[in-house]
Amino acid sequence: MTHPLKIRRLAGALGAEVSGVDLSRDLPDATVAAIRQAFVEHQVIFFRDQALTPARQTALGARFGPLNIHPYVSGMADHPAVMEVIKEPEDRTNFGGGWHSDMSFLERPAIGSILYAVETPEFGGDTLFASQAAAFEALSPGLRRTLEGLNAVHSAAREYSAQGHSAQKRKSMAIAEADGLVGEYVHPMVLVHPETGRKALYVNPAFTLKIEGWKTSESKPLLDYLFAHCRYEGFTCRFTWAPGSVAFWDNRSVWHFALNDYHGHRRHMRRVTVDPWPVEAANSGLRRATQTA
Ligand code: SIN
Repeated sequence: MTHPLKIRRLAGALGAEVSGVDLSRDLPDATVAAIRQAFVEHQVIFFRDQALTPARQTALGARFGPLNIHPYVSGMADHPAVMEVIKEPEDRTNFGGGWHSDMSFLERPAIGSILYAVETPEFGGDTLFASQAAAFEALSPGLRRTLEGLNAVHSAAREYSAQGHSAQKRKSMAIAEADGLVGEYVHPMVLVHPETGRKALYVNPAFTLKIEGWKTSESKPLLDYLFAHCRYEGFTCRFTWAPGSVAFWDNRSVWHFALNDYHGHRRHMRRVTVDPWPVEAANSGLRRATQTA
């Protein structure tokens, strides 16, 4: 039996608002399957007027896969898989304020992130999402073929090392600096989605350092071209938060960007991040990841 979720698409490339479900409940398997279906099909889905305690958000996330414990951002004391994403009125820098896909710097990157809004500013603080499947499909057949044969090196160093953005600037987040711990991992530049078979570009400006086997100076022009292409407006959708809103995005095919246009106001979110089940990792191109440093 399928669950009667109501689904309303928000934009041409990705994004849908889902209603008819209370995420704070212990959901039947059919409902979880219907949410997962909507998540992979629309790449990012949104829910309104939810009431998630950290425990309920943990339980919800765990229905979709093992939960990630972030290596550089501490979780809540009693709920280690729940990360608080906070910008205080006096902060100038926010978390996630650049295009990225979560955890691409790990050997087995997260499949999805579930972000819940606790407190939102009076204005601003929207999140932008960009479909990397649409971005891939818009490239020429020649460039698509070339990219399908390439891998790229990802690392958390620019963000989480002692000199990185997070360690330097994000005062209201529990950031653990990563010097000496940051590995580099190689992932295919084009991921074949293990659940849909749809191909998507898998590089991002925050965590992708270079193309494997290429010099940094050789990689830069092609990566810069892709980074500009990938955020074209036609591949995006934009979500305006209110307390109780939830977004669940697929990091295998989506970039996101937290807008930082609400200085002087508080924004408080909580995120759980869903890792692949071992079988999903085995079926995806990410299995080819190897540590190179
Ligand atoms: C994130 O990058 O996970 C944070 C996104 C947001 O706060 O909108």
